[in-house]
Amino acid sequence: MIVLGIESSCDETAAAIVTDKKEILSDVVLSQEEHKAFGGVVPEIAARSHLDHIDDIIEQAFQRAKIKPKDIDAVAAASGPGLIGGVVVGVMAAKALSLALNKPFVAVNHLEGHALVSRLTNDVEYPYLLLLVSGGHCQILVVKSAGDYERLGTTIDDAAGEAFDKVAKMLKLGYPGGPMIEKMAAIGDENRFSLPHPLRGSGDLNLSFSGLKTAVRKIIESYGNGDIDETVLPRKDVADICACFQKTACECLLDKLLLAADYFKKNYPNGKHIVVAGGVAANLYLRAKLEELASNKGLIFAAPPVRLCTDNGVMIAWAGLERFQKGYVDGLDFKPRPRWPLDANAPKAAGAGGVKA
Ligand code: KG4
Ligand code: ZN
Repeated sequence: MIVLGIESSCDETAAAIVTDKKEILSDVVLSQEEHKAFGGVVPEIAARSHLDHIDDIIEQAFQRAKIKPKDIDAVAAASGPGLIGGVVVGVMAAKALSLALNKPFVAVNHLEGHALVSRLTNDVEYPYLLLLVSGGHCQILVVKSAGDYERLGTTIDDAAGEAFDKVAKMLKLGYPGGPMIEKMAAIGDENRFSLPHPLRGSGDLNLSFSGLKTAVRKIIESYGNGDIDETVLPRKDVADICACFQKTACECLLDKLLLAADYFKKNYPNGKHIVVAGGVAANLYLRAKLEELASNKGLIFAAPPVRLCTDNGVMIAWAGLERFQKGYVDGLDFKPRPRWPLDANAPKAAGAGGVKA
C-alpha cells in the first residue's frame, strides 16, 4: 500500500510518500523563510506561500519516489488543527488529486501525524505513552491505536514550543526559537538562575509555562528596560538564561511525565514505550532526560529522527496510511478544522470527517 501525505498547517509546505512496508519513498519539505523578519508565523503570508509552492512540492514527492500518481492507494492531508488558510491549501490539493485519480482522500489530524510517526521509524507498538510537544500543543496522552487516545494532561496556557519561541524572542535570538535556545543553552550555566515550576505538585497532569516565561522576562528586565543588546546583556548571560530556562521547562515536562508513567504502567500493563513527538522533541537535552526517565521506569524510550520531529509530510502520509488500513476514508465535503482535539479523533466521534469505508 502506498500513500501520499500533504502537510501545510503552519510554516512548512511538505509532501511525502510512504508504504505499508515502512519505507519512506520520498520526503520533501520547504520551510518558509518569509516569517523570520516578523519573529513568528504570519498566517496570511504562510497561506500564500503554501499556495505558491504546493503543486511543485507534490510533484517533487512523486519524482523522488520514482512512482506515478496513479500508483498511490490514497491521498492524505493534514486537515487541522492549524492556521486555517494553510490547511485549506493542502486539503484542496489533496481533494483535487483524489478526484482526478479516483483514489480515496484521508483527512489526518496534524497531531495524529506527530503521534504516530514513531511507529514508522521506531516500530513502536500500541499502547504507548506519548509526550506531544510542539509549537501549538503540549499534551500527555496514551495512544491506544490510530484514532484512539486517552488524554492525561495538557497545558493550560502556552505550548512548550511557544514558550521556547517567546523566550528566544525576548532574547532576540530569532525564530523559530527552540533550536537557538538549545544551541545557547549548551554553553550556559543551567544552575545560575532559579526559575519557577508552574503547576508542580498540582495533583493532576496539566502543565503551564506562562509563569516560567514571566520569570525569564523579569531576569532580562533586570539588565535594563530599553533595547537589549550585547552591551547590556552579554552573550554569556544570554547562554545562562537559555540553559536555566531549558532545564526548568524540561523539568516541568518530566515531573508530569513521571506521574503519567506510573499511571500508564498500572492501567496499560502490556505497554512498553514512552514516545516523544512534535517540534520540541528535536531537543537533544530533553531527549536525554526522557531516555533516563524511561529506563528508570522500565520502559523503552522512542523518538522519531530529529528531521521528522518538526512538521513534515511523512508523518501525515503514515497516519493517513494507518487510518486507511483501518478502513477510514473521508468525503470530499470534509471541512478543514482549525481546532481539532486529538482525543476527539476517534472515528465514531469525528462526525462527517470519519466515515467507515
Ligand atoms: O511540530 P512543529 O514543527 O510545529 C507545530 O506543529 O507547532 O513544532 C515547532 C516548534 C517551535 O515552537 C520550535 O521552536 C520548536 O518546535 N522546536 C524546538 C526545537 N526545534 C524545534 N524546541 C526546542 N528545542 C529544539 N531543538
Ligand atoms: Zn506540528
